[in-house]
Amino acid sequence: MATADEFPISRRGILIGGAASVATVGIIPPSTAAPASASSDRPPTARVRLDVNGAARDLELDTRTSLLDALREHLHLAGTKKGCDHGQCGACTVIADGRRINSCLTLAVMHDGEKITTIEGLGTPDKMHAMQEAFVVHDGFQCGYCTPGQICSAVAVLDEIKAGIPSHVTADLNAAPPLTATEIRERMSGNICRCGAYSNIIAAITDVAGVKA
Ligand code: FES
Ligand code: FES
Repeated sequence: MATADEFPISRRGILIGGAASVATVGIIPPSTAAPASASSDRPPTARVRLDVNGAARDLELDTRTSLLDALREHLHLAGTKKGCDHGQCGACTVIADGRRINSCLTLAVMHDGEKITTIEGLGTPDKMHAMQEAFVVHDGFQCGYCTPGQICSAVAVLDEIKAGIPSHVTADLNAAPPLTATEIRERMSGNICRCGAYSNIIAAITDVAGVKA
């Protein structure tokens, strides 16, 4: 056990010293504070080249720009939606170099040179992707807000299973993951639908996958 000699400063002394420190900080006149550097007014920018839906897009961006904001605000591709902006809803899902990502959680500069596919790149109203058609056939949406993210995610999910990437519900990690409704449900669990269109969404995806819902 420590003796009083080992702690020569009393609790009262510490409190007084702490208060004095605070007071000292408080009396520094504003004029002595370090001047803000002129460059701090301008955010750092960087040149970013993205291949978006098959077209090269060159951007000069504030380095803090998320991929989602680069797509929506700078490239005016408003199909990708901003739901939570915190990685919790999946509305912002796009496919980057073949893998689905939450575009709100990543900076555009981190994807320089990558191939980005958004809902606009999967198909058009005249020439829909098979997954888009299936969502229409199975009524896999109500308000449609989450739908672009759901469809991008669904397309990538089927590719993930085909590529042998396991999920939380894959029982045998040494075998190819089975193409089942359970696997699809688990992998789609990051895409939230506030309208609750889940059963029809699963019906659409399993239809494209050729499995039973
Ligand atoms: S907006 Fe990105 S996950 Fe919700
Ligand atoms: S269809 Fe409305 S949020 Fe999913």
